Amino acid sequence: MKKHYDVLVVGGGIIGHSVAYSVSKRGMSVLVIEKGEINRKASSAAAGMLAAQAEVTEAGPLFDLARESRNMFSSLSEDLKEQTGNDIDLIEKGMLTIALTEEKVHSLRSTIAFQQAAGEKASWLRGEDLLSVEPNLSKTVLGAMYAPDDGQVSAFKLATSFARAATLLGARILEYTDVTGILIENDRVQGVKTVQGDFFGDHVVVTGGAWTKQILEQTNVDLPIYPVKGECLSVRTNERLITKTIFSDDCYIVPKNEGRLLIGATMIPGTFDEKVSVAGISQLLNKAINLLPSLKDAEWEKAWSGIRPQTGDGLPYIGEHPSVKGLHVASGHYRNGILLSPITGEIIADLIEGNELTSARLAFSLNDKRRREQFSEASY
Ligand code: FAD
Ligand code: GLY
Repeated sequence: MKKHYDVLVVGGGIIGHSVAYSVSKRGMSVLVIEKGEINRKASSAAAGMLAAQAEVTEAGPLFDLARESRNMFSSLSEDLKEQTGNDIDLIEKGMLTIALTEEKVHSLRSTIAFQQAAGEKASWLRGEDLLSVEPNLSKTVLGAMYAPDDGQVSAFKLATSFARAATLLGARILEYTDVTGILIENDRVQGVKTVQGDFFGDHVVVTGGAWTKQILEQTNVDLPIYPVKGECLSVRTNERLITKTIFSDDCYIVPKNEGRLLIGATMIPGTFDEKVSVAGISQLLNKAINLLPSLKDAEWEKAWSGIRPQTGDGLPYIGEHPSVKGLHVASGHYRNGILLSPITGEIIADLIEGNELTSARLAFSLNDKRRREQFSEASY
């Protein structure tokens, strides 16, 4: 196997494959190195929501990045279909963020105001208007914020399509290969050490999800990335109960193809343990039935979990290492890695090509001591 590439990508999840796709499109040779089987960690556990407005409720760099990435999906879906023949199951029917209390009504109304001011479509649906759109919702729901442009995809199909499209452009993927070290000489990256020997690259991109901190440990940057486990489940119904994704503080219900409903997700910080707990699943089911009572007649399908990569300040790291030239990090996408995958690949490809980043992109840089110090203050 070839030992030298323009770009080595460490970690074969959705972010690694999006990077591989973007840099392959620009004519660079790429090797993705994955410890286990590709796309089996957080990237296959995800619900696939493109929740730029439902999940990001404050103005700032993450809101702008999320909207920009979400708006790439329509053409990305067509490009990936044309290149690979795969459908990523893009559904653009909007999301409803539910209010069960007056306090939530108030906070959603402020979210709507700021999102409209930012040029996004967002509106308030009162109880009876909401029930005319989604008649199976519980009558106890007071109303909802409707974000028509927030969509959804199959996370696993998107991750595998990125991987397939990258390989069709010439990228290689090496599975069951643990990266055990980063080769650095005179403050410049040379490649990586793996259980199958060394590989060399002009650029190395670490996309190790929740494991990124450990991969980078030897580079003298204590990157504040920590694990937050999420459990999910799915059920099937004969009749379609909802058409839009239902999002609330307690749980979300995502209508997939063929009568599947995906219900997520718990938030358990500080663990890499992927076991699914009865407590977590029963709590989610109770909350979901509270929103959508006829769910109790659905047929059980399965449950699973994944480990989200969270950062100290909630922003992902997308940038070059502060002291090692050619070493890049794209990680810490927390609850929004599927949504942010297309834009992340493009930013890393720009960095590798030496294109100047806009100031908005610099918010995600690693070269900010203040960001790194916040880790010690993060509680988990
Ligand atoms: P991962 O998919 O975890 O990939 C990292 C890879 O690195 C793994 O395959 C791992 O084996 C590999 N690796 C680790 N160490 C090494 C090593 N030493 N050598 C080689 N390889 C290594 N996001 C959304 O946008 N929308 C959603 O609806 C959504 N829902 C979610 C629901 C749940 C339950 C969870 C858990 C997450 C959800 N997310 C969602 C978040 C999203 O899944 C993550 O942000 C995203 O998958 C992170 O991708 P990644 O490639 O960084 O990490
Ligand atoms: N974005 C949904 C989740 O992380 O559970």
